[in-house]
Amino acid sequence: MSTLIELEAISKIYKKRGGKEKVAAVTDLSFEIARGEIVGLLGPNGAGKTTTIKMICGLIRPDEGHVFVNSFDIVRERQKALRSISAVLEGNRNLYWRMTVQENLEYFAGNRGHSARSVRSEINRLIEQFRLESKRHELVNNLSRGMQQKLAIAVAMLAGTEAVLLDEPTLGLDVETGYEVRELLRAIAQEGRTVIISTHDMPVVQDLCERTVIISSGRVLVDDRVSSLMKLFETKAYSVSLAKPLSQMQVTRLKATFAVLSFADDYKSFTVTLEHDEAIYTLMDILRLERTPVEALDRTSIHFEQVFRQLVNGQVKNHQMRESNHVLA
Ligand SMILES: Nc1ncnc2c1ncn2[C@@H]1O[C@H](COP(=O)(O)OP(=O)(O)OP(=O)(O)O)[C@@H](O)[C@H]1O
Ligand SMILES: [Mg+2]
Repeated sequence: MSTLIELEAISKIYKKRGGKEKVAAVTDLSFEIARGEIVGLLGPNGAGKTTTIKMICGLIRPDEGHVFVNSFDIVRERQKALRSISAVLEGNRNLYWRMTVQENLEYFAGNRGHSARSVRSEINRLIEQFRLESKRHELVNNLSRGMQQKLAIAVAMLAGTEAVLLDEPTLGLDVETGYEVRELLRAIAQEGRTVIISTHDMPVVQDLCERTVIISSGRVLVDDRVSSLMKLFETKAYSVSLAKPLSQMQVTRLKATFAVLSFADDYKSFTVTLEHDEAIYTLMDILRLERTPVEALDRTSIHFEQVFRQLVNGQVKNHQMRESNHVLA
């Protein structure tokens, strides 16, 4: 697969008012996105995701490093680079509030060099697919947030660009609209486009993304396939149910011995990731210390949310990560 988007050691420092206080939002960040990839850009609040997306689509300039889109430098060859990407940013800034739904679609298609006539049927299809028929002639200003979000995604799809960047596309949507937007994202992914999604919505990542780049404090923490990360945790995850709560001493020992585990609030059950088969005996030894009765011991399935939290909280030991060729910065 050929590379479509390339970030080469980009950094961005924001200067607060007065220029004294500085925030390093992104530091020496590098990764590549191949054509057709669906990548989840993840990380805690303030990790630098929005800043990174804005640098990829040329809205802010990196202080250092380069972004190439389709081999064009986003700063020096901006127009050519922008031909390949469209973006849906937070706050629906890419819509005109004083134009209607249909006018927005026509306007932005025109911006991309399509005549209103040539995109008419595509616009009708999108309005129907996004269930905006009853709002076709409504000003964007009068649409609900969820409807604006759907329209912003429709505008990005209509642009017909090879890559679509979405910053938190399901943020603040009700259950039904969130579901609809997820379905739309799936449709975009199936069209073979290149998609970068920044999100805190872990089911979206588990469902849609092939790969994830997790950033933390502006640096790459993990860059790997979602399926490999899931497998790494899944094959080794066990849930243990007990007839009485663990003692404080047992909890301390478990924490000191095992890389990844979570406890139920009442300490009568926990999940643990075992790094090798023999570790189960060590686990049993710790339970034996208080003669804690074991009610059940099961292999457990794991959600990407747990994987993400464990990666970000740094509970995964380095050697465990190296075994499976993860990138740890
Ligand atoms: N315009 C700005 N001026 C000053 N600091 C900023 C500005 N925009 C972002 N920052 C800071 O840069 C850092 C990265 O912010 P960014 O918005 O990229 O994070 P994020 O990963 O998108 O977070 P979230 O998950 O909350 O959306 C944060 O510390 C933030 O406070
Ligand atoms: Mg953000």
